[in-house]
Amino acid sequence: MKNTVLTFKQAKENGEKLTMLTAYDYSTAKLIDEAGINSILVGDSLGNVILGYEDTISVTMEDMIHHGAAVARGAKNALVVIDMPFMSYQTSVYDAVVNAGRLMKEGRADAVKLEGGQIVCPQIEAITACGIPVVAHLGLTPQSINAFGGFKVQGKTAEAAMQLIEDAKAVEAAGAFAVVLEGIPSAVASKITEVLTIPTIGIGAGADCDGQVLVYQDMLGMFSDYVPKFVKQFANVGEIMKKAFADYIKEVAEGTFPAEENQYGISKEAEDELERLY
Ligand code: KIV
Repeated sequence: MKNTVLTFKQAKENGEKLTMLTAYDYSTAKLIDEAGINSILVGDSLGNVILGYEDTISVTMEDMIHHGAAVARGAKNALVVIDMPFMSYQTSVYDAVVNAGRLMKEGRADAVKLEGGQIVCPQIEAITACGIPVVAHLGLTPQSINAFGGFKVQGKTAEAAMQLIEDAKAVEAAGAFAVVLEGIPSAVASKITEVLTIPTIGIGAGADCDGQVLVYQDMLGMFSDYVPKFVKQFANVGEIMKKAFADYIKEVAEGTFPAEENQYGISKEAEDELERLY
């Protein structure tokens, strides 16, 4: 069954946890979808884990459309959310609507996600007014790391926590159907989850959120540049991949791969004819 915004609404009402993972390509999206996830996020974290940038600042609309469309082709049942990259919505409400529309039309998103609270509410209102579902994103929002002075947990003082709660209420009022809470104390995320009627999806925001999201390379041990405290490695696929790559290199070097069963044959007559000619 296809997950929709109604799945998110009902999950919150029924107290059922929502699941979300990132994906950036067709085959990974297909595997995650077949595992039964509620939602796949084509995060602008692709800047880090796919393109090798230090942050998400350089990610473009073209990057998001290219990877988003691949994920959408692989996701049958998961609700596909595509991130709006840095400066694709901050510049104006007009830009936000045009770029959200491109992610829907060209990227085949089911919803878009953008970072920020009260400051981006006009954008959220305008995008949702066009019939495009919006996920908001608060807390340690990676597009603002230069303003934060690095990847730092947000909402640690009472004042900062209150600001987060007000931002969460504002994005809900503006029409967001869910909000990602990233890198904030669990107690603050818990309070936000309690006061909102839309679901909260946490990453580094504790167990009380209505759902959880992780970057798939992090939870599979495939990305070691930086491993945040909130990551749990559910498998060490990175090590399995390295071993397989090393085995391949060894077997090719030894001449044991390709073996007989990996090769194509020809008929005896064709072989004899080749022998005669060459
Ligand atoms: O880009 C991303 O992967 C995200 C998640 C960390 C929520 O925004």
